[in-house]
Amino acid sequence: MTYEQAKAALEKNGQGHVLQFWKKLSAAERKALLAQVETIDFKELARCKAMLSGEGAASAKKGKPTAPKVHELKGAALKRAIEAGEKELAAGHVGVLLVAGGQGSRLGFDGPKGAYLIGPVTGASLFYFHARKILALTLRYKTPIPFYVMTSAANYAATVSHFEENDYFGLDPADVIFFKQGMWPGMTPDGKIILDAPGRIFMSPDGHGGMIAALKANGCFDNMRARGVKTLFYFQVDNPLVEIADPAFIGLHTLEKSQYSLKLTAKREPTEGLGMVVKRDGHFDMIEYTEMTDEMNNRRRADGELYFKYGSPAIHVFDRAFLEKEAAKAMPLHLAHKKIPCVDASGKVVKPTEPNGYKFEKFIFDALADAKGVSCLAFDRREEFSPVKNAEGKDSPATCQADLQAKWRRQLAEAGVTVAEGVPVEIDPVYALDARDLASTGLLLQGC
Ligand code: UD1
Repeated sequence: MTYEQAKAALEKNGQGHVLQFWKKLSAAERKALLAQVETIDFKELARCKAMLSGEGAASAKKGKPTAPKVHELKGAALKRAIEAGEKELAAGHVGVLLVAGGQGSRLGFDGPKGAYLIGPVTGASLFYFHARKILALTLRYKTPIPFYVMTSAANYAATVSHFEENDYFGLDPADVIFFKQGMWPGMTPDGKIILDAPGRIFMSPDGHGGMIAALKANGCFDNMRARGVKTLFYFQVDNPLVEIADPAFIGLHTLEKSQYSLKLTAKREPTEGLGMVVKRDGHFDMIEYTEMTDEMNNRRRADGELYFKYGSPAIHVFDRAFLEKEAAKAMPLHLAHKKIPCVDASGKVVKPTEPNGYKFEKFIFDALADAKGVSCLAFDRREEFSPVKNAEGKDSPATCQADLQAKWRRQLAEAGVTVAEGVPVEIDPVYALDARDLASTGLLLQGC
């Protein structure tokens, strides 16, 4: 993009100020600024601007939210689901999607969150556990399972390096597909793009909902179709207990011919920070924990159970064709009011003490409203969910490592092995993905 093209596009959209320091910029700064302007989708920018003036705000959602039906698979139903899921896996129809565009800022970790070291014995990273589970599934079902990893522009290089330095954790690099999510400019309350340096636009990732557009823009849907992938297992980077591509979950999704399935877990306490799946006006919807009222959080059924009992750990299964259709649609936008560094009229960088601008994000679960079939599956959180979100306290590395070890101890006990209290335990998922694998490694275990 030339200077003249950038100037014309920016002025047409009321953003001419972006080039106000042009004369003072070095050749490298000018090149970088033009490259940033080139990435701006001015149609999407207009939607962001409209959000700020209230015009583009999603119309108030209609209908009273009610709790959806949640499957609790047991006995024959569980067996049927597992069989159906294993068939899908063995046929090579399943791919795995990981959203890893976030930074570990709440955790106080400087780098991609997936590179955070969590292994209680080996000090292996979150990415290690995810990748080794996929390798174990590949070996179990004797078919490649493509692993699509979404990063932001900021953590792309560090994420790829982490995989390279670790030999892709044993996976075939051809089956690990990294792709970048979109970035959007931050805006002042009156809709002006924010510069955080005289020659640089402040840009932030467009949220995990940006995954759908990014899959399309990066040719991932073509890659999936070429591989025969029909069903996608989706998860977040911060939960090393996740049961990746759990056959029962994949099986329920396919048996029910769903387009979007969710795993749900009973909330730890009524106000736990989990999104809440609801049904209203015939559609599914997610209410973020920040938007749940006290009344909704504490409402009880006649039997004393919470009415909105199940929260979402953001573990989903998608029909690939459904996501492809969604890519043609504009997803709703969510605003975040933030303190954004910016330049003043003289080009000096100012660090605000109060929120001064907006970031824009899309959320993956907004696709729920369009899904024709939605299945919800309850699971036991002890086995599958213990995210690393905070440096200390709840959902911290300490609680996650304790939960990982407790899970591995239960698996060992089920396989007939007792480990003395206080002895650290860690199991490589490729050695044994579950108690069934552990039992079949009996000889090795006897030698422990
Ligand atoms: C999220 C969910 C919440 C769910 C909880 C479960 C949202 C808004 N809320 O909360 O419903 O109950 O997890 O743990 O998501 N990410 C990107 N790109 C982005 C932003 C995020 O890839 O632009 C990824 C992160 O790397 C992470 C995931 O999305 O893997 C979730 O982001 P995070 O900010 O950690 O969400 P939470 O607030 O913890």
